[in-house]
Amino acid sequence: MEHDEKVLWVLNEGTKYFRDHAADVSNFNETEIARARKFHSSIPGYEPTPLRSLPRLAAEFGVGGIYVKDESYRFGLNAFKVLGASYAIARYLAEKLGMDISELPYSVLTGDEIRERLGSVTFATTTDGNHGRAVAWTARLLRQSAVVYMPKGSSKLRRDAISAEGARVAIRDVNYDESVRMTAIEAAEKGWVVVQDTAWPGYEDIPLRIMQGYGTAAVEALEQLRTGGHERPTHVFLQAGVGSFAGAVQGFYRAAFGEGCPKIVIAEANKADCYYRSALAGDGKPRAVTGDLDTLMAGLACGEPNTIAFDILRDNVSAFASCPDYAAARGMRILGNPLDGDPYIRSGESGAVTAGLLSLIAQRDYLSGMRDALKLGKDSVILMFNTEGDTDPKRYRSVVWDGEFPTYDGKDVREGFL
Ligand SMILES: Cc1ncc(COP(=O)(O)O)c(C=O)c1O
Repeated sequence: MEHDEKVLWVLNEGTKYFRDHAADVSNFNETEIARARKFHSSIPGYEPTPLRSLPRLAAEFGVGGIYVKDESYRFGLNAFKVLGASYAIARYLAEKLGMDISELPYSVLTGDEIRERLGSVTFATTTDGNHGRAVAWTARLLRQSAVVYMPKGSSKLRRDAISAEGARVAIRDVNYDESVRMTAIEAAEKGWVVVQDTAWPGYEDIPLRIMQGYGTAAVEALEQLRTGGHERPTHVFLQAGVGSFAGAVQGFYRAAFGEGCPKIVIAEANKADCYYRSALAGDGKPRAVTGDLDTLMAGLACGEPNTIAFDILRDNVSAFASCPDYAAARGMRILGNPLDGDPYIRSGESGAVTAGLLSLIAQRDYLSGMRDALKLGKDSVILMFNTEGDTDPKRYRSVVWDGEFPTYDGKDVREGFL
C-alpha cells in the first residue's frame, strides 16, 4: 500500500446535459421492485435484514443520523447478492416456461413438476465470491447445476463457500472483466445460461433482473426508516464495483422521489475506480480500469461499468469517491467496535468502505470541501448498506484484530493525529 494515498473525489457536476435528459428509471419503480420483493418473500427464511441506527457515531461525526442496512443477515449468506441471482434466475425460468413470475413463488418453482418441465439447466457466472455463492445457492435449491469462475487472486475461503453449495468452481489467472468474457464464450459453446451481475451491449435482460432483485434491500430500508420516523434519508452512500447494486438503489430512490431524491455518494476501490474516472472525464462516456485490480475490496474489483447502471448513476449521483484500501479497513474497525450504546455490525471489506469514507469525510480536513459540497451536517440522515459480513473470515480478523491496512493518509492516527 502506498501510505500517503488519499480519498479522491469528484462532484458530478460536469454532466448537466445528462442530468437534464436523465436515464429512464421506470424499471426500478415501486411496482417492479414490489414484484421482486414478493418473489423473495416466498423463499423460506425471508425476512427484512435489520436497519441499524448508530446515534453515537452520528454525534461523533456531526450528522443527524447514521443508518446501516445490514445485508450480512440476508438468507444466512453473509451478503446481499442472493437478492439478485435468485430473482434473475426465477424470471429467466418463468419466461422459459411461459409463465408470469407471480405464478412461480419459491414453492412452485422448486416443485417436481417444474423440475420435470425444465429438465437440467446449468447456470454459469464469474464472481469475486458473493454473487457466485448466490448463483450456486439458487441452483442447489432448484436442483440444477452451477459453474462458477473466480478471478486471479480470489480468496480460497470464498471459493470453498461456493463449492459447499455444490457448484463447480475454478479460479482463473485473469481479472474479473476478462473472466466475464471467457465465461460468456464457454457458456455459448456448452449451452449454459450466463447469470452475470453486469450488463454489456446485447446482454441486459438477466442483469436488469439482478438489479431489480437488489431493489428489495432499498425498499425495505425505506420502510424501516419510515417506521423510525424518517420520511427519507438526505444522503445515501453506496459502494460500486460494476455499479449494479448502486444503480438499482439509485434507480429506485430516483423513481420514488424524483427531484427530491436523496444525494447519492458512490464509493469505489481506488484500484478499480471506473465510475470516478468516468465522472472526472465528464463527457458522459464510461472509462475502464484494466490490469490486476488488486484491492482489499474484492467485491468492488471490477474495472468496467454495467451499461444499465452507468447511465442511471451518471445522471443522478452527487459525488464519486475513489477510496484507498485503508478506508475499507477503517470502516470495518469502526463498525466492529461501536461507540458505547451503538450496535455492533460485522462488516467485510466491500461492505465497510462507505462507513470508512464517511468517517474520513467527517474527520479529515482535506475532505472538508466534500463535506461542504454535500451539505453534510447536523440535519443529515445518512443511509448506508453493509453489503457483506466477514465473507473472508481470516482477512476480517487480520484487519480488525491485527490492524492490517492502518489509516495512514499522510498523518498517522497512532501518533496522536486525532
Ligand atoms: C459485498 C459486495 N458489495 C458490493 C458489491 C458491488 O456490487 P456491484 O458490482 O453491483 O457494484 C459487491 C459485488 O460483488 C459485493 O460483493
